[in-house]
Amino acid sequence: MTSTPWLYPKTIAHRGAGKLAPENTLAAIRHGVSLGYRATEIDVKLSADGVSLLMHDDSVNRTSNGSGFVANKSWRELATLDAGAWHGAAFAGEPIPTYCNVIAYCHANDVLLNTEIKPSTGRERETGAAVALETQLLCADAPIKPLLSSFSTDSLIAARDAAPELPRAHLFKNPLPENWLERCKAVDAIALDANWLTLTERIVKTAHDNGLYVACYTCNDLAAAEKLWAWGVDSVITDAVDVIAFRR
Ligand code: G3P
Ligand code: MG
Repeated sequence: MTSTPWLYPKTIAHRGAGKLAPENTLAAIRHGVSLGYRATEIDVKLSADGVSLLMHDDSVNRTSNGSGFVANKSWRELATLDAGAWHGAAFAGEPIPTYCNVIAYCHANDVLLNTEIKPSTGRERETGAAVALETQLLCADAPIKPLLSSFSTDSLIAARDAAPELPRAHLFKNPLPENWLERCKAVDAIALDANWLTLTERIVKTAHDNGLYVACYTCNDLAAAEKLWAWGVDSVITDAVDVIAFRR
């Protein structure tokens, strides 16, 4: 195993609280906390004017009352959007949070972060560097730093170059590419972060044998999660925060 210890829990909430609250909002993270979760994955990208904020998609269409691309909007425009009403009336008026706001909430409430660097198309390196620098600055005193992850090798290289000491995980889609190990090593990742459906016990062992921890997304079935932990998977990212109890 790597000499860097794995400090993250066995369960991590996906996008705050999965699908139980509007994803990537403070309301979602609070909901996860109300169910006992003390770790969450979030998706972070940049506004046109370089503010880091939580949003999964390139566009705001699906998860807000606005339309258009995040990368074309200033923070002033994004800050006035409603990112909650699409999910349900109870969340009307919930704003898009800045990454800075979320870090402050998580520090105050003892919540660990898995920060997925989710660059708008074409802004991979810029986003990786900006998110890493902001994490380094705002989490300087945090005993456990956010785990930075990304599907983008370019974002992870930029993150490493900007803040080498922050832990990184390389995300991969299903199917896992044949060169996953080389790509993890190319960004000095401490972990493989795979779609859970693509994992086998052998892949988990290969990762561990090569000094990598293993995280996976997005497993919403308790029996499947138990199997993954039995194989040695270190963290399971889940939407099912009401079904799979938080585990350290
Ligand atoms: O970080 C794990 C998971 O969130 C990756 O997929 O599309 O839900 O961001 P996605
Ligand atoms: Mg994500």
